[in-house]
Amino acid sequence: MKRTVLVTGGCGFIGANFIRSMLEAQPDWQLLNLDKLTYAGNLQNLAEVAADPRYTFIQGDICDRALVERIFSDYPVDTVVHFAAESHVDRSISDPDAFIQTNVFGTFSLLETARRSWLAEGRKAAGQRFLHVGTDEVYGSLGATGFFSEETPYDPRSPYSASKASSDHLVRSYFHTYGLPVLITNCSNNYGPYQFPEKLIPLILNNALQGKALPVYGDGANVRDWLYVEDHCEAIAAVIEKGRVGQSYNVGGHNEKKNLEVVELLCDMLDAKVGLLASGEARRKSITFVTDRLGHDRRYAIDAGKIERELGWTPRYTFEQGIAKTVEWYLANSAWMEAVMDGSYQQYYEKMYTNR
Ligand code: NAD
Ligand code: DAU
Repeated sequence: MKRTVLVTGGCGFIGANFIRSMLEAQPDWQLLNLDKLTYAGNLQNLAEVAADPRYTFIQGDICDRALVERIFSDYPVDTVVHFAAESHVDRSISDPDAFIQTNVFGTFSLLETARRSWLAEGRKAAGQRFLHVGTDEVYGSLGATGFFSEETPYDPRSPYSASKASSDHLVRSYFHTYGLPVLITNCSNNYGPYQFPEKLIPLILNNALQGKALPVYGDGANVRDWLYVEDHCEAIAAVIEKGRVGQSYNVGGHNEKKNLEVVELLCDMLDAKVGLLASGEARRKSITFVTDRLGHDRRYAIDAGKIERELGWTPRYTFEQGIAKTVEWYLANSAWMEAVMDGSYQQYYEKMYTNR
């Protein structure tokens, strides 16, 4: 089906993967990318598709209501895929302001604009969809057993997850109150190409390649349920096309791993692929247990049965397959990592969008 899709936060990790894969998979979609270009936004993630006539980049803040309204009046937006957020838990602990601003007020600004635009007489259309990309962290922390289902009560425990829970509630309220055609996905930890090296996997890969210490929080026994980003993008497309409006869908990879297991695996993979450290030591020697994250959630694990039963989605990648592709990508794209680490990726906007 033909769609004009407003993607927010498309220069971040998942948003960029989503835009790249939808330009391939959905020839009838026009994709608008509204991104503020915070530290997490990187135009290089989309350099290869920047000239595609089905893709338009708009730099701006989702909290800027006048800008969002202008986009809805300049383009026939019928679909919103809302990724834009402050996404890193550690930053939400040290500096929560931006999390409340972007994740709560930004989501409100998009909802309110979509409501005024789509629900106005004469502008309603059958296929309109507002998909909010949520997180499994809204459900809190699991003990040794059990899974998060769509019925699990919300119990967010960090400023990040509390801001994401707030935005989920706002999104749901627009369905119940106004009938806005919303959908929510609550997803587990993603990994893959273009992930900012503040998150566990790219941080460890980058440090391990440079022979630096590999920080593991607490005892390293916290569990995350890893999902390859390409699988997540396919799940979002399935929810847009076939999801029931007003519903939430949990998305997970069936890949529970302790953090220490992940770090050790990455060490062993790099030792095998690029050789031992210059000192002749194996990379596991660099693992350093550091002070635990405040309020560190112990375990996340997703029951993804609903999206499988209703929409036929299951992840295509095992952790072993996804992590092999991920390691290959970071090894083949050291220039991307260097530009992020030295900050030069932030000058890319000037190069791409000025002097045209
Ligand atoms: P990211 O931090 O890599 O990217 C966020 C993007 O949003 C960046 O491009 C940034 O410039 C943009 N942005 C931030 N504030 C903005 C604002 N006010 N206006 C416009 N753009 C703004 O994030 P990610 O890891 O790609 O996550 C994307 C979404 O998926 C987030 O909503 C996150 O909560 C959710 N999510 C992420 C994961 C994960 O494992 N990464 C898992 C579940 C859900
Ligand atoms: O579950 C979904 C969430 O996954 C998303 O909503 C978030 O946006 C995303 O950032 C991610 O949150 P986590 O906090 O789980 O991801 P992070 O990569 O920061 O950490 C993964 C685990 O590894 C976590 O238990 C903390 C630990 N960790 C992390 C870092 C950065 C370490 O042990 N050392 C580290 O240096």
